[in-house]
Amino acid sequence: MIRIQRPCFWTFLSVVCLLICHVQTVDRNNFKSCEQSSFCRRCRKMEAGRSVYELQLETLQVTESQVVGTLVNTDNGTHFHTTLTALTDGRWRLEVDEAQPQRTRYRVQHSLQQEPPRDRLEIAEKTENSVTVKCGANKVVLVGAPFRLDVYTGDVLTISANARGLMRFEHHRNKPQQTGEQEGEHIENNEITDPGAWEENYKSHHDSKPRGPEAVALDFSFVGAEQAYGVPEHADSLALKSTGKGDPYRLYNLDVFEYEINNGMALYAAVPFVLAHSAAHSVGVFWHNTAETWVDVVSNSDNNVVSSIVNFVSGSSKDPQVDVHFMSESGIVDVFFMTGPRPHDVFRQYSALTGTAPLPPYFALGYHQCRWNYNDQEDVDMVNRGFDHYDLPMDVIWLDIEHTDNKKYFTWDNYKFSKPTEMQQNLTAVGRKLVVIVDPHIKRDSNYFLHNDATDNGYYVKNKDGSDYEGWCWPGSSSYLDVVNPVVRDYFSSRYSLANYQGSTDNLFIWNDMNEPSVFNGPEVTMPKDCIHHGGWEHRDIHNQYGHLMLMASYNGLLNRAGETDPAKRKRPFILTRSGFAGTQRYAAIWTGDNAAEWSHLAVSIPMCLSLAISGYSFCGADVGGFFKYPDSELFMRWYQTGAFLPFYRAHSHLDTKRREPWLYDAQTLAVVRDSLRLRYTFLPYWYTVFYQHNMTGAPVIRPLWAEFPEDRPTFTIDNQLMIGNAIMARPVTESKVQQVSVYFPGADEIWYDLDTFQAIHTHSVVNIPVDIHKVPHYQRGGTIVPRRFRVRRSSSLTHEDPYTLIVALGINGTAHGNLYIDDGETFQYLHNQGLYLDFKFENNQLTSSFALPNHHYPTKAWLERVVIVGLPPGTKKAKAVSSDGKSIELETLYDSSLQLLTVRKPGLSMASEWKITLL
Ligand code: NOJ
Repeated sequence: MIRIQRPCFWTFLSVVCLLICHVQTVDRNNFKSCEQSSFCRRCRKMEAGRSVYELQLETLQVTESQVVGTLVNTDNGTHFHTTLTALTDGRWRLEVDEAQPQRTRYRVQHSLQQEPPRDRLEIAEKTENSVTVKCGANKVVLVGAPFRLDVYTGDVLTISANARGLMRFEHHRNKPQQTGEQEGEHIENNEITDPGAWEENYKSHHDSKPRGPEAVALDFSFVGAEQAYGVPEHADSLALKSTGKGDPYRLYNLDVFEYEINNGMALYAAVPFVLAHSAAHSVGVFWHNTAETWVDVVSNSDNNVVSSIVNFVSGSSKDPQVDVHFMSESGIVDVFFMTGPRPHDVFRQYSALTGTAPLPPYFALGYHQCRWNYNDQEDVDMVNRGFDHYDLPMDVIWLDIEHTDNKKYFTWDNYKFSKPTEMQQNLTAVGRKLVVIVDPHIKRDSNYFLHNDATDNGYYVKNKDGSDYEGWCWPGSSSYLDVVNPVVRDYFSSRYSLANYQGSTDNLFIWNDMNEPSVFNGPEVTMPKDCIHHGGWEHRDIHNQYGHLMLMASYNGLLNRAGETDPAKRKRPFILTRSGFAGTQRYAAIWTGDNAAEWSHLAVSIPMCLSLAISGYSFCGADVGGFFKYPDSELFMRWYQTGAFLPFYRAHSHLDTKRREPWLYDAQTLAVVRDSLRLRYTFLPYWYTVFYQHNMTGAPVIRPLWAEFPEDRPTFTIDNQLMIGNAIMARPVTESKVQQVSVYFPGADEIWYDLDTFQAIHTHSVVNIPVDIHKVPHYQRGGTIVPRRFRVRRSSSLTHEDPYTLIVALGINGTAHGNLYIDDGETFQYLHNQGLYLDFKFENNQLTSSFALPNHHYPTKAWLERVVIVGLPPGTKKAKAVSSDGKSIELETLYDSSLQLLTVRKPGLSMASEWKITLL
């Protein structure tokens, strides 16, 4: 965004340059390279094959689920307390911390949803230099000197930690007498000699580093892996690339102005999770650390890398392997291993650690209309009415920072938004909601209750001298709530109560932005690392979790705002966040921040969301239309079409861009946008069902093709196609002026049905699909049943009792299976059996609906309007429905022999009961 209120001359100059020169890429000078970061430089300089760490096998003590022992740095004699824990469901945890620390090191809190349940382990074998630990069918071999930890999936070695010997654990030490930043300085006794180890300058910023060097790093070799994925958020391909001599992927939550694509620069969110995959197996590693982290990747299947790299595990350079090296600035080594063996096993194993997204309120899956800014309440009314006038379904209007009284969050501009309750009522009258923004920076204004409360109670993050930290953000001079402190989180939660938040209603939802946190005049546009949080922790330790902690407070605030004491009756919160860490999916949807109206940004939105989804964070979207710049009509149409296939569907635009409500474009564009919105709404029952399944099992809502077809090698690098659940495959058109796009149809025995034409595609290859501007290739997989709704309404809440259509797409064996989840769409009654999870099966010419979860109820009035069966050979032209009370009725049918498609009209069966339809 173009920021108006920055104090510094250089920033001013760069903004002017941006305007004049029309430079549309990130100013890399604002952000560190690894070489400019002392700890990254130190960790990266290490030479493979020379590990100084030894696990003293004679110290190992075994309890029911743990092996505990001492690891020694043989170079300097430092001892480390090392624990290996067996966890349930094929997972292991390794923790390494200093045995006699000078001071306690930071251990991450609040990322795991609970302490993971342990499993029993036993020592299976001991040799002179190794101990084999077994847990169920899996095992870990702990190698003494040099230290290595080999994780097996069954009998197959899949992950080896410290195989390349790049482990590093910088123990806390006293500051040597003479240090400085002179290059080449020599300090005895293997002390750390890197300039910047004890204090570091970046541009005009000084990091005092009172604790000195304290990095932790460890390498993981994914043996046999052909590709690795994860470590979002980066504007890059889904499959991780070898980092080689370029920079490692960086995980450091930052507000990057006009981010570039196709690189591993840090962005707003950080999830230190890697999934490594081959046709034979998938495994995962979760590096549980909230400090700044860099991640090097070396893949010997990457053609760009000279494959002479020594493979320390197999000794050959030919076997597939991906090596990943995590390097963090502080904290401890705390790592989880997930042994798979299939992608869905890893998703489940990881989600059980950091949680899944709660079931979103139904409206949140509809379309959201946002802009920085809608000017006033009349403008909001106008947009609201515009969507009705032009027959465009829409669920939510959003207000950005200008709705507040001078950027004081939880307030309204008295003049422009003088009647916020009335404005919300106008929206709810047509089933719509309002979302408003609440940022973490607090305006330092003695007339602002939040600032006064925070100052009086000591709720702000502190400078290292104990004074309140002050930075510059939208309101000008600002301070930041110390959300590390549970008392501050409770206070922040309380601000959302309907009583405290004047003008709010329970149809108002929240957008937490700028929560990296963004500080315009801070180092790399964020908070200095030597700021101090509750408990004496430095910002350095918790940086990547600041936004997460804020969201915990916001989520609780929304949960409790109406004072409802029955947890089941509380309304589900909806929050959007820009920043996040592992586990933030439990509180908020996420979007990919300030993209641009460019084709490349449209294309990258797919791998960006896929990468988050496989890393536990499914509820993701990108600004439809692009935030910066103005999309021409072709790009605008294609963006609406693409956005319809990502979980979070919101248009947004920068303050300085031309208005772009869909009717401001030409008639054809408006029509295509309308079609895209309607298409999205027809799929809402399916999206909701897939979100329910995600909530229950951890399966990502959107998936790369390899998640469903793990043995199908060509899928491993495809990231312009995606699956929604297991049934729908989309290939959005993200290229300009193309007449055709190539679509890969995975799986050897699959039939795919084009959902525009119902034509069957029975192939296992790449096919060129003609695409005019109306065409968004999307297919239903044979063997699946997808619930949809085809009645057009203004918003999703008006469809609550509308009838359903089932699309039954038969697989090669003539059967199909699917589900539908129905509940009230807004409360937590679903956790108390108040919902219906229907199981649909088609086999032997019979479609049945049965309750998949006994003892679950929901009194829906919705009924079955139509059944479309595709792939049905000729011969069956009549149908009979039998409802649960045994009544049988003849049904009207229509058979299209060219498409082999049978439509069963108006079965009229209740979704609240079990039934069957028999073809005769
Ligand atoms: C930055 C966000 O990324 C953008 O979406 C928003 O419009 C501006 N902040 C203003 O709040």
